[in-house]
Amino acid sequence: MDAKFSRRDILTKAAVFGAGAAIGGIGGFGGGAAYAEEKTAAEADYPVQYGHGGTQDDQLTSNLEWTSGEANKWPWPYTKLDPEIVAEKAYEGWYELGCGGTVIASILSELAEKIGEPYKSFPTESFVIFEGGVAGWGTLCGSLNGAAVAISLIVGPPTIDETTVLITTNIMDWYCHSNMPIYTPKNPRANKTSIVHTVSESPLCHASVGKWVKASGFPSSSAERKDRCARLSATVAYKVVETLNQWIDGEYNEGVSWFAPQMVFMPAQQNCAKCHGEKVPRPPLPEGKEWPKGY
Ligand code: HEC
Repeated sequence: MDAKFSRRDILTKAAVFGAGAAIGGIGGFGGGAAYAEEKTAAEADYPVQYGHGGTQDDQLTSNLEWTSGEANKWPWPYTKLDPEIVAEKAYEGWYELGCGGTVIASILSELAEKIGEPYKSFPTESFVIFEGGVAGWGTLCGSLNGAAVAISLIVGPPTIDETTVLITTNIMDWYCHSNMPIYTPKNPRANKTSIVHTVSESPLCHASVGKWVKASGFPSSSAERKDRCARLSATVAYKVVETLNQWIDGEYNEGVSWFAPQMVFMPAQQNCAKCHGEKVPRPPLPEGKEWPKGY
């Protein structure tokens, strides 16, 4: 694989976060990437570090013998794709594979065509289970789940390069703050003259679909809602390809928009107040850490 992108690039240019600016987002839902600031590594308040103890020198996968076979080696090779071709595939594929399955299949099928193995043998359709926030539970939007799988497979293990986490967290953040769906397919199956757009302010399927059905008045079972989710999957697939294309060229330099484990000391999405109301609790403070100003 010919990635010209080094972890150092990311740490010095991008994988840092301006604490003061960040805090305005907590409890509300601040401007997302808009409030990320660039700092040098030395000034970094929140370099992205993955939590399970891996270091840069770790082997590719893990210390577990039973996960380290030849077949489990990753990352897999990447070559630049046309985001529009992938988005069109994702839109059509949604009607067969659901949101998560179609994001993965649209990207990996293009790579199977251009690169061949190991993509050809990858059972992309198995991810149909992501539909409806995994088996209809309305948890993480399947398209984001699919994006995370594709990114991790291609960019590599977070234990050796946190770019996987950086790109994924930024796509989650972008999803939450964007007026969706953005992508318009060539042959939409519904909402042909216009479509209602909403900002989910959450990566959860339930919140994302819920805001849209409320704003549009169409029930979840309607052709309009299905078209909306198919367009959303196409939008996410487009964004993933666009991002991977930048990354492979060494041009991915986004700052960290949100990384809760180091910002609020536990995993969380940003809109604390939506669930907690006005009194957002604080988790126990880890040793040697301080609460960010204003939080
Ligand atoms: C999607 C809903 C949701 C969001 C968003 C959310 N939380 Fe929570 N949080 C919960 C639930 C549910 C619990 C468990 C509460 C319980 O059992 O009392 C919890 C528990 C916690 C706890 C531990 C319980 C306590 O009282 O000490 C802390 C701390 C906390 N959340 C902080 C946050 C912060 C900070 C944010 C935003 C950065 C956040 N949460 C966002 C739903 C949410």
